[in-house]
Amino acid sequence: MSTSAQLRNALADRLAEDGTLTETEWRSAATAVPRELFTASYFLPVAGSFPTSYRPVREGDPGWLEGVYSDETLITQLDGRVRPDDVTEDAVTGSPSSSTLPSLVLRMWQQLGAEAGHRVLEIGTGTGYSTALGAHRLGDANLTSIEYDPVVGGAAATALKAAGFAPRLIIGDGLRGDPQGGQYDRLIATCSVRYVPLSWLHQVKPGGKILATLSGWSYANALALLVVTGPGEATGRFLPGYTSFMIARPHDRPPRPSLALLPGDERLSQIDPAKLDDWTGGWVAQLAAPSAERMGAGAEQILWDVSTGSQARTAPNPKGGWTVVQRGPVRLWDRVERAVQRWQAANEPHQEKFGITVSAAGQRVWLGTEDGPGWDLPI
Ligand SMILES: C[S@@+](CC[C@H](N)C(=O)[O-])C[C@H]1O[C@@H](n2cnc3c(N)ncnc32)[C@H](O)[C@@H]1O
Repeated sequence: MSTSAQLRNALADRLAEDGTLTETEWRSAATAVPRELFTASYFLPVAGSFPTSYRPVREGDPGWLEGVYSDETLITQLDGRVRPDDVTEDAVTGSPSSSTLPSLVLRMWQQLGAEAGHRVLEIGTGTGYSTALGAHRLGDANLTSIEYDPVVGGAAATALKAAGFAPRLIIGDGLRGDPQGGQYDRLIATCSVRYVPLSWLHQVKPGGKILATLSGWSYANALALLVVTGPGEATGRFLPGYTSFMIARPHDRPPRPSLALLPGDERLSQIDPAKLDDWTGGWVAQLAAPSAERMGAGAEQILWDVSTGSQARTAPNPKGGWTVVQRGPVRLWDRVERAVQRWQAANEPHQEKFGITVSAAGQRVWLGTEDGPGWDLPI
């Protein structure tokens, strides 16, 4: 049986071979931080279950440590409170919270360009694993991490102490930044946001960088790296890949009444609704209708505007193509259709062809260049 140190080295080797770990300092962090202190027992999804159910894997179970060092997201809690050690059943269901997979955490630290001497603010401590990697690289004194959930934050504090790290930990809303103010060189968020919080733009020094995933109420995500250009101003690009994180608590959509599909105005759709299932296509639709929630899939999409109750729903047309029924003050499909057509006119590029500009005038995501087609984020 392999030891923790052997498994850590093997994971670092794999991540170096596949090109994820490129910097020796981050490799040292990956080989130094025992992930098992942060994940302890975890849940694994039961293959083929629907709705997904989860099997607890407890500390010491066969394969437990190997699982900790697989490059997988490990589910540490269900419904924000149920831990693997709490359940007696073989499999349970619930909404998962997780420890981000090591390759993603390490890739993000490298993309952030965090170096020795930098002061860094992390939003979303979670298990504390990414915080421990950061503390190893930057030193405890240079890292502050904020966690919204006091129970999660408390467990992370215990795990960090056990691993020998002591960064500054805060329980609170990371969207408000560091409550004591401060000037940071870098900010990294492992929960997603609908727009870049103003506090971040004022707490990161001009020339400093912000790495965060922009998401929304239709569950589409895009990872952006921004450079702060002045107080309250920044510009950046979206990065390659497919990164998604849970939305930060205060940015989550408000509860809506149960869905009732009502009659409305019908016409033919000018786009294939299945384009919304594409990673970037769905994100473009979310940019165009930022207060809508998207449900359905393929030819049968449903958009429900959380602010106004407006609806749009598509269906295959028996005579060919697709129909859309729209209802309410916001013509959701008109907006989505126009945005998707602009994206299609540019040959349906991945998000990395998009950029973002943030200023006192607002926050705008654009395609190609700053003067290209763009969409305002809901601030
Ligand atoms: C994906 S987890 C973070 C994973 C973590 N970095 C790791 O390595 O395990 C996202 C975390 O963000 C936290 N979170 C959500 N909204 C937040 C907010 N407004 N401020 C701070 N933390 C928040 C969640 O409670 C959750 O623990």
